[in-house]
Amino acid sequence: MKAAIVPQYGTPDVIKIEDRPIPKPSSKEVLVQIHASVVTTGDWRLRAAAYPRGLKLVGRMVSGIFKPRHKIPGVTFSGIVVAVGSEVTRFAKGDPVFGVANKGGHAEYIAVVEDSAIAVKPAEIDFAQAAALPFGAATAYHFLKRMGRVQPGEKVLVTGASGGVGHLAVQMAKALGAEVTGVASARNDAFVKELGADHMIAYETTDPLSQGPVYDAIFDTIGLFDFAKARKILRKGGRLLVTEGAWREVFQMMVPWRQNGHRIKFGVSEPDAAELEELAAMSKGGLLRPVIEARFPLDEISEAHRAVETRRRRGVIALNIRDQELSSVAA
Ligand SMILES: NC(=O)c1ccc[n+]([C@@H]2O[C@H](COP(=O)([O-])OP(=O)(O)OC[C@H]3O[C@@H](n4cnc5c(N)ncnc54)[C@H](OP(=O)(O)O)[C@@H]3O)[C@@H](O)[C@H]2O)c1
Repeated sequence: MKAAIVPQYGTPDVIKIEDRPIPKPSSKEVLVQIHASVVTTGDWRLRAAAYPRGLKLVGRMVSGIFKPRHKIPGVTFSGIVVAVGSEVTRFAKGDPVFGVANKGGHAEYIAVVEDSAIAVKPAEIDFAQAAALPFGAATAYHFLKRMGRVQPGEKVLVTGASGGVGHLAVQMAKALGAEVTGVASARNDAFVKELGADHMIAYETTDPLSQGPVYDAIFDTIGLFDFAKARKILRKGGRLLVTEGAWREVFQMMVPWRQNGHRIKFGVSEPDAAELEELAAMSKGGLLRPVIEARFPLDEISEAHRAVETRRRRGVIALNIRDQELSSVAA
């Protein structure tokens, strides 16, 4: 099979396409022929060893000190089950599925344990959109619903509202019944409003910190605010939810007293199968629609990485692995 390989840390040009054996599923695994995947900020960080401040050493320890421990990148996948192990009961040959790969999603086939984070792909979204759910949508779910416990009627601010996580966070916050304000550049005003945001702040002209204490929750997807700044615009009991955190944020999370009951929350999204099923149901019902900005064939994965690395993308950068046309229509 064709697979992307990252032999060393570096620029997008280090990625090569090589022939690798098709994995053989064990008795508890399903073999998925991958139709699509996405290139995420996680894939960029793992390829470039570009970890957030304060996490560089930990990042290298996890992903490989001198070179990537896992050579085939790709943290999500979607495709068709083409073989099942003898003990598999959840899936059958021919099922359209999507899931978390952690590694190995940027290849033509992947073998995954059936009770890992894998679920049936809803027919209402295409393969590339389904491959986007375990990253952006799962992160939005984890921070807004699980950690932030956003309630109907609450006012929520989402920074990076046009990005990989942010554009799904706007939709998730709306689905939870919140009044949503997105922060992005002026060129993304219409895009963020089309996602469902009630208000949009263009950061070039308006400082989001200039509004006074109006938000019940801030989902800062891009590390725009530290806690001290965010507290200026949080109401009593307000929460700052951060995807980019380090030791300082972990310490701040543990401090029990906070004036006005303000809290900061940082964590790592690790969706399980039940959560993916919930995201699939939301997509089925039209509440979640990953927006694909660009689709690249596997051979052009370096270009896809370049697009992600700009940090200016609008929605999702997808890889069409099986077939351009097949992957871009709902199955
Ligand atoms: N903790 C976790 O479990 C977890 C999970 C997923 C991701 N993450 C992390 O979360 C972060 C966000 O990921 P992502 O994939 O959403 O990133 P991304 O797609 O690269 O985010 C880029 C977006 O941020 C916007 N942006 C750039 N500068 C801005 C500014 N000054 N103010 C407001 N918006 C601005 C851009 O909009 P404009 O083009 O309009 O500027 C663009 O839409 C990454 O650091 C990633 O590693 C963490």
